[in-house]
Amino acid sequence: MTFAPGEVLPAELVAVLQSINLGVLLLDSQYRVAFWNDFMAIHSGKDCDEVRGRSLFELFPELPRLWVQKKVDGVFALHNLAFTSWQQRPHLFSFSGSRPITGSTDMMYQNCTFSPMMEAAGTVKYVCLTISDATETAAQHLQLEQLNQLLRAEQSEQARLIRKLEDTQAQLLQSEKMAAIGQLAAGVAHEINNPVGYVYSNFSSLERYVGDLFRLIESYQALAAEHQDAALRAQLEQANQALDYDFLRSDMADLVRESRQGLERVKQIVQDLRDFSHIDSGDWQEADLHKGLDSTLNVIWNEIKFKAEVVKSYGELPPVQCLGSQLNQVFMNLIINAAHAIEGQGTIWLETGAEDDWVFVRVRDSGSGIAPENLTRLFDPFFTTKPVGQGTGLGLSVSYSIVTKHHGRLEVESELGQGAAFTVWLPRRQPPQGEDAVDLPAGE
Ligand SMILES: Nc1ncnc2c1ncn2[C@@H]1O[C@H](COP(=O)(O)OP(=O)(O)OP(=O)(O)O)[C@@H](O)[C@H]1O
Ligand SMILES: [Mg+2]
Repeated sequence: MTFAPGEVLPAELVAVLQSINLGVLLLDSQYRVAFWNDFMAIHSGKDCDEVRGRSLFELFPELPRLWVQKKVDGVFALHNLAFTSWQQRPHLFSFSGSRPITGSTDMMYQNCTFSPMMEAAGTVKYVCLTISDATETAAQHLQLEQLNQLLRAEQSEQARLIRKLEDTQAQLLQSEKMAAIGQLAAGVAHEINNPVGYVYSNFSSLERYVGDLFRLIESYQALAAEHQDAALRAQLEQANQALDYDFLRSDMADLVRESRQGLERVKQIVQDLRDFSHIDSGDWQEADLHKGLDSTLNVIWNEIKFKAEVVKSYGELPPVQCLGSQLNQVFMNLIINAAHAIEGQGTIWLETGAEDDWVFVRVRDSGSGIAPENLTRLFDPFFTTKPVGQGTGLGLSVSYSIVTKHHGRLEVESELGQGAAFTVWLPRRQPPQGEDAVDLPAGE
C-alpha cells in the first residue's frame, strides 16, 4: 500500500477499518500512535484524534514495554511479520471482553499481529498492530483443559482402584488357596487319626503279648534244660539254631521299639497337621503361639531340615487372642522364606517375647538379606525376586493382611548379606469391635 504525502491512511481504507471487529493501530518508529480504529477507541475509551501523536506506552502503561519495542523495532528493521497469541500473552492490552454465548464479561484474551506498512520507497512507514478478541476461544479452550485434567485425574484414580482390586483379589485367592490346603491337610489328618489310633492301641497289646510269649518260651526252655532226655534237648537245640532264636529274640525287641517310635511319629504328624490347620477352631480363640510355631515347623520340616539349623529362643508368652490357623500361615511363609534365603547351610532363629500388652514372634535368618531398594516393596502383592514358577510373591502380602486383621504389625529389618529378621507384633487381645486404636508397645 502506498500513501499520499502527509496522509496516514486513504479515506476508503479508514472507512473499512472502522467497521471491522479487530483492533487496528498504526505506530511510527518512535512508538507514537498515527491511527487507531473504532475498535481501539471503544475499548480504550479514547478517540483516534485524541491519541494521535501520543506514545503508545503513555496510553497503555500496562504494556510490556521492552517486549513491544523489540517487536516493533524488529518489524521496522526486517520488514517481517510478528505474531503473539493469547496462550503466550493472554491480556496484552487490558481490555474487557464480553462472551457472546454466556454473556459474561472477562478480561479480553487477545491475539496480536505486528505487520509492516510500506512506503513507495520500500521502507517501513508504520507498524500495524492488529488485535483480535480471542476471549470466547480461550474460555472454551481453558474449560476443555480443565475438563481434561479432571478426566485424567479420574482415569488415574480408576486405574489405581483397578490395581487395588486386582491385588486384593489375588490376596484373597491366595489365602483361600491356603485355607483350602489347610482344610485338606486337616481332613487327611482326621482320616489317618482313626486307623492310627487303633493300630497304636493294638500295637501296645501286641507288644505285651510278644513279651508274654517270650516269657512262656523261656519257661519252656528252663523246663527243657532240666529234662533228662538228651535226645529231646538236642532236638530243641536244633530247632533253636534252625530258627536262629537268639537273633529273633533280640531283633524282635528292636523291631517292636522302632515300630513304636514310627507310630508315635505318625501320631505326632497327624497332631501337628490338626494343630496347624486348627481344624477345631475357625474362630477367634486364645491360643498358645509356641504350639502354633512348633506344629508349623513340624509340618514344613522337610523343606527346612537340610538347609538350616533351627534355634528356638522362646520367651514367656501369654495366650493370644487370634485366628490360629491364619497365624500359622504367617509363620509358615516367614520360615519358608528364611529357608529360601539361605544358600547352602545356615541358621533360622525363632524368637518370641512379650512387652506390655503385646507379644512378638521373630523369624531371623542367616540368609542373603534384602537390598535396601526392595525393603519397601516386599509386602506388595506379586513382588518376588524368585525365578518364574518358584515364587508368586504373595506370601508376605497375605501375611501382612493377616497380621493387620489382628491389629498387629509386620516389621522387617535386613541388610544385604546380613540375613533378615521379620517380626510379627500382635496385641494380646483384640480391641472391641469398631475400635481400632491399640497402644503401641513401649519403645516402638
Ligand atoms: N528372609 C528373607 N530374606 C531375604 N529375602 C526375603 C526374605 N523374605 C522375603 N524375601 C524377599 O521378599 C520377596 C517376597 O516374598 P514373598 O514371600 O511375598 O514372595 P515369594 O517368597 O517370592 O513367593 P511366594 O508367594 O511363594 O511366597 C521374596 O521374593 C524375596 O526376595
Ligand atoms: Mg514366600
